[in-house]
Amino acid sequence: MTAEQAAREIKRLTEEINRHNELYYQQHRTEISDYEFDQLLAKLVALEEQFPQFKSPDSPTQRVGGTITKEFATVYHRYPMLSLGNTYSREELEEFDGRIQRALEGEPYEYFCELKFDGVSISLTYENGRLVRGATRGDGVRGDDVTVNIKTIRNIPLTVKGDIPPLFEVRGEVFLPRKVFEALNREREDIGEERYANARNTASGTLKMQDSAEVARRKLDCYVYSLLGDDLDIESHEEGIHLLEKWRFNVSPTYRKCSTLKEVFDYIDEWETKRMSLPLETDGVVIKINSLSQQERLGYTAKSPRWAIAYKYKPESQSTKLKSITYQVGRTGAITPVAELEPIFLSGTTVKRASLHNANEIARLDLREGDYVFVEKGGEIIPKVTGVDLARRSPDARPITYITNCPECGTPLIRREGEAAHYCPNTTGCPPQITGRIEHFIQRRAMDIDSLGEKTIEQLYRLGLVKSPADLYDLTRDDIMKLEGFKELSTQNVLKGIEASKSAPFANVLFALGIRYVGQTVAAKLARHFKNIDNLANASVEELLTAPEVGEKIAQSIWAFFRDPENIREIERLKKAGLSFAVDEKTVKQVSNKLNNKSFVISGVFQKYERDELKEIIVSNGGRVLSSVSGKLDYLLAGENMGPAKLEKARKNGVTIITEAEFESLLKGN
Ligand code: IVH
Repeated sequence: MTAEQAAREIKRLTEEINRHNELYYQQHRTEISDYEFDQLLAKLVALEEQFPQFKSPDSPTQRVGGTITKEFATVYHRYPMLSLGNTYSREELEEFDGRIQRALEGEPYEYFCELKFDGVSISLTYENGRLVRGATRGDGVRGDDVTVNIKTIRNIPLTVKGDIPPLFEVRGEVFLPRKVFEALNREREDIGEERYANARNTASGTLKMQDSAEVARRKLDCYVYSLLGDDLDIESHEEGIHLLEKWRFNVSPTYRKCSTLKEVFDYIDEWETKRMSLPLETDGVVIKINSLSQQERLGYTAKSPRWAIAYKYKPESQSTKLKSITYQVGRTGAITPVAELEPIFLSGTTVKRASLHNANEIARLDLREGDYVFVEKGGEIIPKVTGVDLARRSPDARPITYITNCPECGTPLIRREGEAAHYCPNTTGCPPQITGRIEHFIQRRAMDIDSLGEKTIEQLYRLGLVKSPADLYDLTRDDIMKLEGFKELSTQNVLKGIEASKSAPFANVLFALGIRYVGQTVAAKLARHFKNIDNLANASVEELLTAPEVGEKIAQSIWAFFRDPENIREIERLKKAGLSFAVDEKTVKQVSNKLNNKSFVISGVFQKYERDELKEIIVSNGGRVLSSVSGKLDYLLAGENMGPAKLEKARKNGVTIITEAEFESLLKGN
């Protein structure tokens, strides 16, 4: 490709990607799949790498990250990032309103109400329409320059067009949407890691990650709520919000202008429940004076503006008796202590149990036997023990002693360095670990055998019929008929489900194996990269590290998994049962039809490509790959050291023999 062609292609791709981004974020529509979008982006990344002179600082490729920052630079805020006075009571809101009235000496005024988004505040600076800096709040005077990470957030514009001032600043809140946070935690559970406790801290940690590519994968989101600048032609906060909307910033449509305190209270009441259905957590309402000149007159205290206040919703919290602590053993042997509570009714549901996470959390709460504990259900669905009701503690309450042996199999527990959880090391003999692995195997996102449930697995295990996933494929009709409640129809159903699972794609099988740190996403990447189980099993740690998303921890874990003879035996049995342990070439995505109706035989060793890669390129461009040379063959793709017999046969049959370079130009359509 010439430089001129590259420049044109980069421009075209940039425009196309921007158009899809806009469709998605402004109009909530899509014309192409996520995969196709990623392909476009990957193409642009590759071109920009090859022709860096054409890479613009606001290229959409900034969205995928790729920069490693050892330490973020400190930057001073042009306008300090203040905090807000806050209150939980309506009386205090009335007092606030009274102060405003007095200070404005009877002049009419309006409020502007917004939700208080529970994320991480950020400041975005735009110079001549270009995002030049994204910074965290820090101590309010100076924060961290996290521009590279901010740029990965898709709905923060990299450029703003139109009638804009040369310099302005936008403030907002970066957050992890509930769904993304849930998916992240599900992925954590899949790989046997502890769940992240809350979305806010996770968003904050994410924004400060050193690897911006990892930040991009986390899918942060952002709402903006204020526009600052010296030469803005606006008179109210509302006008600023409308400008932000016009400039295509992501403003939450939940705001409302209120002319009386009564209207403010109505807004507060209305959103107390409605906020639960928003994509992010909110913990209150921010009430601002709308007029900017009135804001100025009201002024500031040392820490916060006098023209605004936050009304916080009380998280519903109740005190109840801790009856006992039970200990659950997970698939990986991790122990989770659970508080068994005297049932209480909280935000619409009855709560009987709450996770205590690990021994550290019990120590942090300084929990004693028979304590009364405060239980809260914040925005999160899972209830939390937030503290001890000390007033109700009996003076001789004994501290909780953490268990030393597995509650299920009696094996002494271990605690690995740097990990909060205790583990039962008896992986092959501890019942919940065994059934946990089978449950992991059959789940929808893995082998999807939905005719089998937790109860059935337990029965099968108790009867000695299933000890590992491979045993499922040896089950007979008679075996299943032995189970409680199983008749002919339900039995056939189970057998059908097991049979159908054999057609699950390789990526699902790989995830189902339950290799530590290999969640659904990593499994999909590994499948695509290594193509089959043997390549993966034989890969060295160095080779594993070359796969996308694979770092040291994952590589070590995969390597060790395939060095355990027990695992190898299990895989052999699953192979025999007929599960797919290689990617299905037919499922390769179509990139073009340039090689339609053309057949290829690949032979020898190549400079630039692995043979599997060549295969994928051919198939994804519409061609076919054959294994032997015949008269019907179109091309023999000949590498180095190919067998002379094949070459001879190709010559005899008049097959076109091409080199790697010729293949490339064929692909380009020359
Ligand atoms: S306006 C002078 N509006 O709350 C500060 N802040 O407690 C003006 N926040 O640091 C901030 N939602 O991170 C404003 N709609 C909203 C907000 C909001 C969340 C955060 C922000 C700020 C903190 C103050």
